[in-house]
Amino acid sequence: MVNKKKWAALAMAALFSAGVLAAGCGGEKKAAEKKPEKLTLYCGLMEDHMIKTVKEFEKDTGIKVEAVRMSSGEILGRINAEKNAPKASVWYGGPADGFIQAQEYGLLDKYVSPNAAKIPDKFKDKDGYWTGIYVGYLGFSSNQKLLAEKGVEAPKTWQDLLKPEFKGQVVMANPGSSGTAYTMLATMVQLLGEEKGLAYMKALNGQIKTYTKSGTAPGRMAGQGECTVGITFLHDAIKYREEGMKDLVLTAPAEGTGYEIGAVAMIKGGPEQEAAKKFIDWILTKKAQEMGSTTGSYQFLTNPEAAPPKQAAEIKDTKLINYDLKWAGTNRAKLVEKWNAAVN
Ligand code: F6P
Repeated sequence: MVNKKKWAALAMAALFSAGVLAAGCGGEKKAAEKKPEKLTLYCGLMEDHMIKTVKEFEKDTGIKVEAVRMSSGEILGRINAEKNAPKASVWYGGPADGFIQAQEYGLLDKYVSPNAAKIPDKFKDKDGYWTGIYVGYLGFSSNQKLLAEKGVEAPKTWQDLLKPEFKGQVVMANPGSSGTAYTMLATMVQLLGEEKGLAYMKALNGQIKTYTKSGTAPGRMAGQGECTVGITFLHDAIKYREEGMKDLVLTAPAEGTGYEIGAVAMIKGGPEQEAAKKFIDWILTKKAQEMGSTTGSYQFLTNPEAAPPKQAAEIKDTKLINYDLKWAGTNRAKLVEKWNAAVN
């Protein structure tokens, strides 16, 4: 596990080192293909979900897909670094905050899929830069055995995470690399205001065992007994519990919690624009959205024709804040920088 200070530094580097990763990647064809044959995408979803999507899309369209799984901040850093010679054509999955920042950096192309007509307005960008494909709620994944050993209940509020029993026992991801952790940071600032929100993050820093790169890792660590509480999207904890981590208990903060709209978008100047459009059309369909649950991805879905996964019923009444996504996306870089300053 990389220590938290190192991750903070790495994440900032990923966000602001435009051009570094792009070295040596010139010569890509930018022209749209006539008959799409291949597609390269960067994916913010779980690996097994990504593999299933790729297989089914290839089967349905004959387009060969190369896909790389990364966390949101990494994808953003990568497409920013590659902006003069983009290698991928689609950003598939991850909270929309990152997409909003990418849009502001001029890294996305507009594409309004005919299938986006079905997706409610609240789940898509009004200018067509990104479209929502799923929704996930933030919460706590705790290990029942470790809670019992410490004689403490699973956290029920954000303030509970600051209890002495949880010192060195909380794991979250780094908000610079992870969309999950950024959602948490933006949630605290929206709930408490900037000053108090950052003071909370600083106090929480004293409780943190480690900051992981990906937002799904804290749930897995809690499930495996490596920490008592992980801050994660709750659907990820349901997946881990189903996969055998039976000690996981899910709770959500009584003050209200933030949520993600997981999105898909076309990368500006991507080499396979026609294939990218076909992918976006396809991923918005009922069939493609419902497919996630076959690999244990239990997010709520944005296509009203798609059936929500029954496994997510236990979290459907989670108290949500009125998460200001536009604000969260627009302030992402600044807020991550302030968080770095607060915790380092
Ligand atoms: O794939 C699971 C998931 O929780 C998605 O719902 C979410 O968009 C993504 O992971 C966030 O990953 P990260 O926090 O690593 O950016």
